[in-house]
Amino acid sequence: MSQPQTLGKYQIQGILGKGAMGVVYKGFDPNIARVVAIKTIHASLLDTDMGRELLNRFRNEAQAVGRLNHANIVAIYEFDQDHGTPYFVMEFVEGQDLKSLQKDGRKFTPEEAVNIVSAILTALAYTHQLGIVHRDIKPANVFITHHNQIKLADFGIARVDNAELTQMGSVLGTPSYMSPEQCKGMKVDARSDLFSTGVVLYELLVGRKPFGGENTHAIMHSVLSAEPARPSSHDKAVPKEFDDIIKKALAKKIEDRYQTAEGFRTALQKVIAPPQSGGGSLNRWLVAVVLVLVLGAAVAAGMWFKKQQDQRFAQPVAETQTQQSAGPAMSAEAQAKIERLLGVAEAHFKGGRLVSPQGSNAFEAFQLVLATDPQNARALQGIEDVKSRFFKRAQLLAVEGQREDVEKHLALAEKLFPTDDRVELLRNRLTEQ
Ligand SMILES: Nc1ncnc2c1ncn2[C@@H]1O[C@H](COP(=O)(O)OP(=O)(O)OP(=O)(O)O)[C@@H](O)[C@H]1O
Ligand SMILES: [Mg+2]
Repeated sequence: MSQPQTLGKYQIQGILGKGAMGVVYKGFDPNIARVVAIKTIHASLLDTDMGRELLNRFRNEAQAVGRLNHANIVAIYEFDQDHGTPYFVMEFVEGQDLKSLQKDGRKFTPEEAVNIVSAILTALAYTHQLGIVHRDIKPANVFITHHNQIKLADFGIARVDNAELTQMGSVLGTPSYMSPEQCKGMKVDARSDLFSTGVVLYELLVGRKPFGGENTHAIMHSVLSAEPARPSSHDKAVPKEFDDIIKKALAKKIEDRYQTAEGFRTALQKVIAPPQSGGGSLNRWLVAVVLVLVLGAAVAAGMWFKKQQDQRFAQPVAETQTQQSAGPAMSAEAQAKIERLLGVAEAHFKGGRLVSPQGSNAFEAFQLVLATDPQNARALQGIEDVKSRFFKRAQLLAVEGQREDVEKHLALAEKLFPTDDRVELLRNRLTEQ
């Protein structure tokens, strides 16, 4: 394979590997004396009209992903072209990707599997919150550095869809890690990444993929309809708790899966939480002693409080009334309703359902709280958080050049937050494009 001497200002030092889109080189930035990895895009992918559109997508995504800053994400430094060859410049990872480790026959203990997947989920929680979906989670894109740190590569780098690849006459990579909605060519969201992460977890735990087949078509069929065997049925060393986690992560229906990376990660962490054995009985004694002390303190505090109350009721009526007029006490029923609504609102917020033309969403639920309790601090803060994430998401869509989606966001913002300054900013952004 012939190798260029330079790409832009970068000196080429060797080939790191080859993927579906082109060759990845080891490079050197002479200006700041830094070793980098340079991913080139094969010219044959860009010859057509679709190729030119693809180039725009690469540029837009590089802008969005270039701003990501996370220890578990391979950073993107630059996107440029040299003599018609587009290339991404990335952080050079000294280590190995999971795929080659698996090829070398490396086995992972459940604890190692949890640690690796938890790091992937930490990275995903960060980008999903910014509205960036990876779309290609697979062992080849997960690196373990020499310092045992996990790094996720190819973040959000524009994917060529199956249909597009077929039209370009290119060979499709394995669909083993794709979600059912991805196989069907439907629009994907963060939950598709969580499905693919579930596939990676399964493979790490049992050493084989959950969805197999002779060819692309057979694998896709399996992703869409097969129920993989429980991990513990393959290997007794795999704790049974993983069976339910895998079942949920690999649910065919999007709504049945983990809805957030954080939710998935929490479930995993519980499996490897330190066992309560050995010193467990001592711990239980300690807990009991602390509980008795706390209860004793609570009873004493209660008696003191009651005494204070009795003294207060003994005060003149006028004074007591002034104190009460600070705000009528809310009925237990209303308080319970508010708690319930706040729970719904916060779950929607975590799941990214901020506002919507129809259906339940975080904004609406926070507003319902304020209808009962106009000063509720959690709801007031919640609405601010919804707005800020909503506008951030709209700005990112604008950066990605998703005009239609930005227009939808603007229409919603005009309706829901007409007085917010950021509406004007978004409108200007759209007219600039
Ligand atoms: N940032 C990097 N640092 C070091 N090596 C890298 C880096 N990015 C990629 N590589 C190496 O280059 C190889 C090819 O990577 P590339 O992302 O093109 O393909 P892939 O992830 O294996 O498959 P696909 O193209 O389907 O995503 C990888 O297997 C890896 O060994
Ligand atoms: Mg890759």
